[in-house]
Amino acid sequence: MKRFLIAGNWKMNLSVAQGCVLAGEIVQAVGDVPSTLDVLVLPPFPHLYPVSSALDGSTIQLGAQTASECDDGARTGEVSVSMLAPVCSTVLVGHSERRHLIGESDQLIGKKAAKVLSAGLRCILAVGETEDDHAEGRAREVITRQLETGCAGIGKGITAELVIAYEPVWAIGTGRTPEPEQANERAAMIASWCADRFGSRGETIRVLYGGSMTRDNAVLFMEQSMIAGGLIGGASLDAQSFAAIIRAASTVGEAA
Ligand code: PGA
Repeated sequence: MKRFLIAGNWKMNLSVAQGCVLAGEIVQAVGDVPSTLDVLVLPPFPHLYPVSSALDGSTIQLGAQTASECDDGARTGEVSVSMLAPVCSTVLVGHSERRHLIGESDQLIGKKAAKVLSAGLRCILAVGETEDDHAEGRAREVITRQLETGCAGIGKGITAELVIAYEPVWAIGTGRTPEPEQANERAAMIASWCADRFGSRGETIRVLYGGSMTRDNAVLFMEQSMIAGGLIGGASLDAQSFAAIIRAASTVGEAA
């Protein structure tokens, strides 16, 4: 049976106070997270500790949107994995906004992924093609390169969990999505790459879909055989929408 993972990426939105209110509303709207699901929210750094208090008593987990590839020291503005670990189960690396707006290289993302996993945290590695890659038929090539460099520092023996999020850049925040079947094909390709690279351990790596997932289309993506959840931006900033997506995953999971 698929164990879905639903992650809400708040990006650089909300004041700390608003983040705590939203966390409380999500707890109310979601109720008890079904034991068959992993649910997490990824607030901005300053929100993490207060939101962790707001989530106290709930099984909703916390994640960070990025982390430094270094342990500590003279890295102005950076936040290390060990600073996150007391409250976070998960760190997202390689989000397209970090790749394309902030300029993180494939190699840097690979170092970050290795650092997160070696600290024993779950790593969600995001990959996906741009609109041009898509139009010019380079999507597979780009995704494969991002997987190869993103996983370059990850040994087969690593015990923390790696999750891959397939996020076509052209679908993020645009209201456009691929056909669910097309997203499933990409997820299958990613899963097969993981199985080749990590052997039997790779077969357990979950692949999420992200990019304009909403309460209206979530079921269509979750029903796809190779998609094990979602990375949700805009719709995760509304407790009712996020809860509806979680319910969709729960319903599909029960029916499977
Ligand atoms: P979106 O963002 O759901 O707003 O498209 C997804 C993401 O950036 O992870």
